[in-house]
Amino acid sequence: IEAGEEGGRRLDMEGALTARDRVGIQDFVLLDETTEAAFLSNLKKRFSKDLIYTYIGTLLVSVNPYKELDIYNKKQMEVYMGVNFFELPPHIYALADNAYQTMLTEYNNHFILISGESGAGKTEASKKILQYYAVTCPSTTLLNTVRDKMLMSNPVLEAFGNAKTLKNDNSSRFGKYMDIQFDSQGDAVGGHILNYLLEKSRVVHQNHGERNFHIFYQLVEGGEDDLLHELGLEKDAQHYNYLTQGECAIVSSINDRNDWKTVKNALQIINIDEINTNHLFGIVASVLHLGNVQFDSDSKGHALLNNNTELRWVSNLLGVDAQSLQEGLTYRKIEARTDQVLSPFTIDHAIYARDALAKAIYGQTFTWLVNRINESMENKDPSRKTVIGLLDIYGFEVFYVNSFEQFCINYCNEKLQQLFIQLTLKAEQEEYEAEDIEWEPVQFFNNKIICDLVEERHRGIISILDEECLRPGDATDLTFLERLEDKMGNHPHFVTHKLADKMTRKTLERGDFRLLHYAGEVTYCVVGFLDKNNDLLYRNIKDLICQSKNAIVRECFATVDPDSRRRPETVATQFKSSLLKLTEILMAKEAWYIRCLKSNESKQPGQFDEALIRHQVKYLGLMEHLRVRRAGFAYRRKYDVFLKRYKPLCPATWPHWRGVPADGVEVLVQHLGYLPYEYKMGRTKIFIRHPRTLYATEDAYEKCKHELATRLQAKYKGYRAKGEFRKQKEAATKIETCWRGVQARKEREKRAWAVKVIKKFIKGYMTRGQAKCTDNSEYLAFVRQNYLNRLKNTLPKTVLDKTTWQSPPAVLTEFLLCLFCLVRHQNYCVNFTTFQLKLLTSSIFKGKKESYPQSVAQPFVDTRIKEITSNQTQLTVLYSVFLQYSIPVIKYDRKGFKPRPRQLILTQTAAYVIEEAKIKQRVLYTSLKGISVSNLTDSIIVFHITCEDPKQKGDLVMQCDHLFEFLTKLCVIANKQNAVKVVQGSIKIEIQAGKESAVDFTTGQEPMVYKAKNGHLMVVR
Ligand SMILES: Nc1ncnc2c1ncn2[C@@H]1O[C@H](COP(=O)(O)OP(=O)(O)O)[C@@H](O)[C@H]1O
Ligand SMILES: [Mg+2]
Repeated sequence: IEAGEEGGRRLDMEGALTARDRVGIQDFVLLDETTEAAFLSNLKKRFSKDLIYTYIGTLLVSVNPYKELDIYNKKQMEVYMGVNFFELPPHIYALADNAYQTMLTEYNNHFILISGESGAGKTEASKKILQYYAVTCPSTTLLNTVRDKMLMSNPVLEAFGNAKTLKNDNSSRFGKYMDIQFDSQGDAVGGHILNYLLEKSRVVHQNHGERNFHIFYQLVEGGEDDLLHELGLEKDAQHYNYLTQGECAIVSSINDRNDWKTVKNALQIINIDEINTNHLFGIVASVLHLGNVQFDSDSKGHALLNNNTELRWVSNLLGVDAQSLQEGLTYRKIEARTDQVLSPFTIDHAIYARDALAKAIYGQTFTWLVNRINESMENKDPSRKTVIGLLDIYGFEVFYVNSFEQFCINYCNEKLQQLFIQLTLKAEQEEYEAEDIEWEPVQFFNNKIICDLVEERHRGIISILDEECLRPGDATDLTFLERLEDKMGNHPHFVTHKLADKMTRKTLERGDFRLLHYAGEVTYCVVGFLDKNNDLLYRNIKDLICQSKNAIVRECFATVDPDSRRRPETVATQFKSSLLKLTEILMAKEAWYIRCLKSNESKQPGQFDEALIRHQVKYLGLMEHLRVRRAGFAYRRKYDVFLKRYKPLCPATWPHWRGVPADGVEVLVQHLGYLPYEYKMGRTKIFIRHPRTLYATEDAYEKCKHELATRLQAKYKGYRAKGEFRKQKEAATKIETCWRGVQARKEREKRAWAVKVIKKFIKGYMTRGQAKCTDNSEYLAFVRQNYLNRLKNTLPKTVLDKTTWQSPPAVLTEFLLCLFCLVRHQNYCVNFTTFQLKLLTSSIFKGKKESYPQSVAQPFVDTRIKEITSNQTQLTVLYSVFLQYSIPVIKYDRKGFKPRPRQLILTQTAAYVIEEAKIKQRVLYTSLKGISVSNLTDSIIVFHITCEDPKQKGDLVMQCDHLFEFLTKLCVIANKQNAVKVVQGSIKIEIQAGKESAVDFTTGQEPMVYKAKNGHLMVVR
């Protein structure tokens, strides 16, 4: 609620706007047409979905669902608590909270008027409001006791003031106005109750299907044996005349025994002590006994008492003299100037006097009870309080026969309608004034004329009734009617049989008068008006009662001065003045309304009796109310609020309006095409005349909202994607930077190294002439190697020709000189073939096989086997004639890799394997396709031999101590320089054609050669 902005007067409408298509319309003010049909259809639509609450502006319409709805729990209360209920559906808690919040912010008084037919849910509504405050207001232990008293006053008042009627099993038979007082913090600190017009006649008479007040049945059914004994009561409601006229003393829907316990407990909480409690039940019991007092008539037709026991109980319980009581019930004391004459009653008179007594003491006791409750709830702290008043009062009543009670009740509603008109119009007018908008007279019916008809001094119906009651002589109900006809003859809202035209006359009895109330016509039957208005207690009985020993009774009647000759005020006049007071109380407060409707007569859930509801809508004046609400402008909102909601509808105001909100609204509505008569611009608010204008705007807004949402969504998605991209890009850049850093550092290291090397080179160059030192050692080594490498390719043809040698660098001059001298000295031609062989070895193995460096220093020899003695001529010839080189080897069997010592002889065309001077195998160089050795320090040699026939032997695996010498010789002899492969890991071998194995190499502590489990030859170095 925009409490601050709207003065809390107007419930929020935006929630209603967005929800209007869901289930009916949440606020009738927004109905497009204000017809009864549209009204009912909306109500029905909502009721069918258990939506029992609907607003008319601030007024809450409630339809009795006759079933428990799950909308009154603590969670719901919290939902509505202090919330600006922008989108919340109508609820009684919303109204209660709204009133409460407004009270707190504006520090003023409020009242909630709850009206409706009997059974429509007024009392339930007022309890729900009370519960809401009890739960949601701040609490302390002290406050909790006040709160308990307020809550517990209900069961007590309901026991004494409610009864089962045809319409409601718990019908309140009195009007109730309760003030809840709050301190400035919003704590409920006290309460006060005013009661109106208890239906006392029920004490002595009930219609069929109805009961007396609950307390009688509760006492009889639930009262403890001792108590009942003390009160002289039977534990049986059927025993009592006052309880059985309706013939429904026991009803299944009411648990009198349980209620009795609740009431007894509640009495304690509202501080009624044991003595008073006993007095109170004494009075209740005395009424029951009174009802059983019967009369006979004597021969002259005078009433006689026929049962003394009941009378004795009454005198006992009320603490009055039995004899005097008997006299009071059968005689009337007539005072003639100085004398007092006793005039005997007829039976009818006696019964009338008895009933009058019963009604009087019960009625007074009820008032006493209310006073006691007030005392217990009273807040004695003098600081200022604000209040919220709850008025739970009977709505218009129209029966087949309407009597004095209905007259009073309908008069009361007439007054409340008048109050509503005054308050609403006042509020509207004030707002127009505040907003500087020209006041347009509102077309609606003002019921002041009817109020005047009833209550005007000397001229109104009540005055005439009182006059008839006071008039000496034979005043009767009919003479009263005649007086009315005389005085009201031409009043437009008053009609009788005599005054009516022909058509109307048919609908009226002779003893009827008809009032045209604002809510509709009601025909009253005048019978009983005078008696009921007089409500007389005979003088002698009243005197007697004043001396009662029952403290409550004495207190109740003490206010009536027994010596006063003045007649007490009549019932109607009392009612009129109490209503006047109520009006004054209410006029000073801000009003909230709850109108309760009954959905059907049979208290069934889910039934929407359209005729019945139409009737109530009419008699509660809801259409009238709606018209007043709608009279000027249906909708009004602060400029900033209006602009905030609808600004997306106009490019000039979206997304921001930089100027004054009022100008923004003007631009906005111009853009929307509002016509001049459709709206007005106030000081702070825009006023919109018809709901349809607003609807069009709202519809546009709804549509635009979706588009906007899509746009926002797209924007957002784009934004998200962009963010993601940016993040990825940042990550990429970061990685790149790191990588570049790494690269740069590497590059720097490399350059630094290069600088160092170049520096060293230069230094070496510069110091090349000096003795070998750290500065030049590397340079010199480089120069030396360079020279020798060059020398290798340009070796001189004759070693003795010193001049053809390439000029050596300084470091080598001496060495070469020595070499040269040595050669010459020995006269020996250096076998440069050996040197060339070594160079060949180097080119094949250097940097490839680990054992190579150790071999460099070992000189090669011509052959390793000095002689062979064999009787094989072939071998002898081979050895002596064709031998190029020979060497002992260890050959490994192809099957088990057994080591066998052998000799190998190389000739110009083949290699021969010799065992003990026998040729075992010949390997032609042409079939030797490759030679493999490992890169390690072992001396294993594998001959890969072309092998097409499985019968042929496969590859040859050997171990040879002079591996480098042997292979170098082989390369030279067989021209196989390119056939030698230095292999890493293992060497594949062919054991025979198509059957493969391998030689695996590894390092270990001890050198070994063995056949491994996988069938390979394992060589460990
Ligand atoms: N909001 C409600 N939810 C459920 N039942 C309700 C509600 N209001 C009223 N009733 C039912 O209707 C009955 C009559 O309500 P009550 O408030 O006593 O009527 P009233 O005071 O107007 O005569 C209640 O006893 C209850 O069964
Ligand atoms: Mg009630």
